[in-house]
Amino acid sequence: MDSPDEPLFVPAGMFRPRRLRENPLMRELVAETRLHRSQLVMPHFVVEGPAAAGPIQALPGLSRVTIPGLVEQCAADLALGIRSVLLFGLPAGKDESGDIAADPGGIVPQAVRALKQEFGADLLVMTDVCQCAYLTHGHCGFPDAATGRIQNDVSAMQLARVALTHAEAGADVVAPSDMMDGRVGAIRLLLDSAGLSHVPIMSYAVKFASAYYGPFREAAGSAPGFGDRRSYQLDPRNGRQGRLEAALDESEGADILMVKPALAYLDVIADVRSRTDLPVAAYNVSGEYAMVHLMAQAGLGEVVSLALENLTGMVRAGAGILITYHARELLQAQVL
Ligand code: PBG
Ligand code: ZN
Repeated sequence: MDSPDEPLFVPAGMFRPRRLRENPLMRELVAETRLHRSQLVMPHFVVEGPAAAGPIQALPGLSRVTIPGLVEQCAADLALGIRSVLLFGLPAGKDESGDIAADPGGIVPQAVRALKQEFGADLLVMTDVCQCAYLTHGHCGFPDAATGRIQNDVSAMQLARVALTHAEAGADVVAPSDMMDGRVGAIRLLLDSAGLSHVPIMSYAVKFASAYYGPFREAAGSAPGFGDRRSYQLDPRNGRQGRLEAALDESEGADILMVKPALAYLDVIADVRSRTDLPVAAYNVSGEYAMVHLMAQAGLGEVVSLALENLTGMVRAGAGILITYHARELLQAQVL
């Protein structure tokens, strides 16, 4: 018992850090890390027809949406304070040529046009630029017919064509997630030559080959049909290679550098933050979201406090932009 009458046996002296934890206002005053809703980016899975829309089993609380559904959802989210979105397209059909992914009338360009028409500058529309959801075999690039090896330069050039269709439709930011070497430079050149030098590139610069993408691949139907993505995504053991990837993408003209996943890679976020002056984004991926929801479903924790702790860790590590499926539920809970 701490009582003035009793002798003081604990020689705490002058050092009593607990003084600053005494009450909520004091804790708020000295908080070193602050989250704000303007940092949040909400991902969306956009489908071509109503038959493909509906709840996503792997991501509790989230749904695949048609374009009208997307517009409706974004209007509701805007009212909550979500002003940035990241679009993933789920095409009705897949091919091996890449024509579907690079179709100017494809699902993502259509969705971008619809959002821009409805919301204009009130909503920042970012698009994921990749091919895995559009190619029959589910890889992010084109495999060599004889060896199955994912070819780099033809894939990077194709990615640039995909990015161009998104930017021409009015995307505010294009975000390549494929991890082909040189694709940021290829996209920058093609956008610039098309008069789109004002469109920024948010690069999935430091993207690891992660088991945490499982729920996303179910949501997007983008799991590779053969092999895995380890010949292009980073080995989780390699932080130094991550720094190299970030530096290369910056030199190729990336405007924002992303680290993905986030939770198991907070050291990488901190490293990238300390080495660049560009904005740094963290992708709080599908498996990180699902873990939180499964814990809550098992009665072992609360979604909001778990999610806030995770996102706070990412900001404390150095991320300024948070791509997170939690965005809507956090704002609904009015904690941000
Ligand atoms: C596609 C892509 C993936 C994610 C974003 N873009 C999956 C992958 O690379 O297999 C993962 C997002 C998530 O897990 O939330 N290139
Ligand atoms: Zn991909």
